[in-house]
Amino acid sequence: MRTITSLPLFVCVVLSASSLMANSAANTAATDPLLTRGKYLVQNVGLCADCHSPRNERGEFIPELWLEGAPLPFAPTVPMPWSPAAPPIAGLPSMTEEQAIVFLQSGTRPDGSRPLPPMPEYRFDAEDARAVVAYLKSLTK
Ligand code: HEC
Repeated sequence: MRTITSLPLFVCVVLSASSLMANSAANTAATDPLLTRGKYLVQNVGLCADCHSPRNERGEFIPELWLEGAPLPFAPTVPMPWSPAAPPIAGLPSMTEEQAIVFLQSGTRPDGSRPLPPMPEYRFDAEDARAVVAYLKSLTK
C-alpha cells in the first residue's frame, strides 16, 4: 500500500527533474543536434584540423588554437599551385554563413575563385554544409 501511494509522487519528482535537465541541456551548444552534427563532420569526416589547427612540437593539436589557422606541415614533391598555410576558420572570419554554405557545397568562394590545393573542394549537401558552418560559427571567441 505504501509503495502505491508514494508512486505518483515519485513519478512527479522524476518528471520534473528530467524536464529541468532537458531545459538546461537545451541551452548548451553540445546538445544542439545541428552543432553536434557539424562538430562530427569537422572532426571525424572533413578532418579540417589536419590543416587548419596548429600543433605543438609533439605533433598534438593545441586546444586553445583549435581551427585558428596554421602553416602546413607538408608540401608537394612536384611544382604545383599550393597554399603553404591554412587560414583561420574558427568563427568563419572571412565569409558570411550563406557564403560559406555555398563554398562547402561547390568549392567556390563568394568572388567566384576556388581555393588553392591542398584545400579540398568539398561537396557537402546543403544540410551538412549548414551543420559545418553552424559549428564553425559557434567557435567565435
Ligand atoms: C588538406 C588540408 C586542408 C583540409 C583538410 C581542409 N582545409 Fe580548408 N583550406 C586549406 C588551405 C591550404 C586553404 C587556403 C586555400 C587558399 O589560399 O586558396 C584553405 C581554405 C579554407 C577556407 C577559405 C577561407 C577563405 O576565406 O578563402 C575555408 C572556409 C576552409 N578552408 C574551410 C575548411 C573546412 C570547413 C574544412 C573541413 C571540412 C577544411 N577547410 C579542410 C587546407 C585544408
